[in-house]
Amino acid sequence: MKLRSTQILSVNASGLARASEILSGGGLVAFPTETVYGLGADARSDRAVAKIYEAKGRPSFNPLIAHVASLDAAMELVEFDETAKRLAEAFWPGALTLVLPLKSGSGVSKLVTAGLPTLAVRVPDHPLARTLLETFGGPVAAPSANLSGKISPTTAEHVLSGLDGKIDAVCDGGPCIVGLESTIVSTGDAPTLLRPGGVDAEAIEACIGQTLIRAVEGDVPQSPGQLLSHYAPSGAVRLNVTEVLPNEVLLGFGEVDAELNLSKSGDLIEAAANLFWMLHQLDEGGAENIAVSPIPTHGLGAAINDRLKRAAAPRG
Ligand code: TXA
Ligand code: MG
Repeated sequence: MKLRSTQILSVNASGLARASEILSGGGLVAFPTETVYGLGADARSDRAVAKIYEAKGRPSFNPLIAHVASLDAAMELVEFDETAKRLAEAFWPGALTLVLPLKSGSGVSKLVTAGLPTLAVRVPDHPLARTLLETFGGPVAAPSANLSGKISPTTAEHVLSGLDGKIDAVCDGGPCIVGLESTIVSTGDAPTLLRPGGVDAEAIEACIGQTLIRAVEGDVPQSPGQLLSHYAPSGAVRLNVTEVLPNEVLLGFGEVDAELNLSKSGDLIEAAANLFWMLHQLDEGGAENIAVSPIPTHGLGAAINDRLKRAAAPRG
């Protein structure tokens, strides 16, 4: 998808109001945080979040971080245990992301969590980011604002070099101070370092008086996305189905006769937006055998097919 052009917004009241308006309208705005520039979308809108994946050209659905203006705003989305609360009070606003159990009724799109029961949340420490989040008044899903597989951007120019014409706007707030992504930690029974980043693991351990489990292999940090056993429905899944068997429920795509259709019109953004909640719906309905229509492999189709392949893979 190529938009006409990407607006460059300045750091003033009218620029921020425009950015907030674009987010409310389901558009994409890149904005600076103290770590790196994020590519923001309304975290409550399936369609808006699907556009993030499309713009970045991500070949898979990795869960995203929800950015909020305050601890109070985060508490509306996730459950804080004592450890999480202590960490938030010590390091927020700042370069620490907490992965915590999602509250029911949070309204966060399943595309943000990639269907997981947890959500990554962060209060960024950047005046522009915080004003934008306050003005917008809701959670903003934002991965780093680069094309998939490229280096994270620390200036508005970096953002434009990859995403010009693919996103609605970028707020130019100058270079990011930390320049390194946030540290990601999950709490619960065994607090775990999921990604090293802007806040030292040692400082986190000192704060909670506990050693973090390192989700790191040798010297190579694992992407948290890879460590997770991603959501899969409990029924068997068969892909690329053009002839549905009598015992199967069809998850359709395009002009097929199916109660659940990812996109009747064959729109991949719509299909991505529907994917996780439809898989959940099939699960809740007790579907034992799920057939899925063929889905094109271009654009967002790559990520959709990747997700479906995982859902269809044999499980132990
Ligand atoms: O500094 C940062 O964290 C930047 C700025 C924009 O805030 N954002 C960022 O987002 O680096 P991204 O999408 O590039 O990385 C998010 C990481 C991914 O590795 C993802 O797997 C992990 O967070 N993550 C998100 N939700 C998770 C969850 N529920 N459980 C485990 N890991 C999760
Ligand atoms: Mg990234």
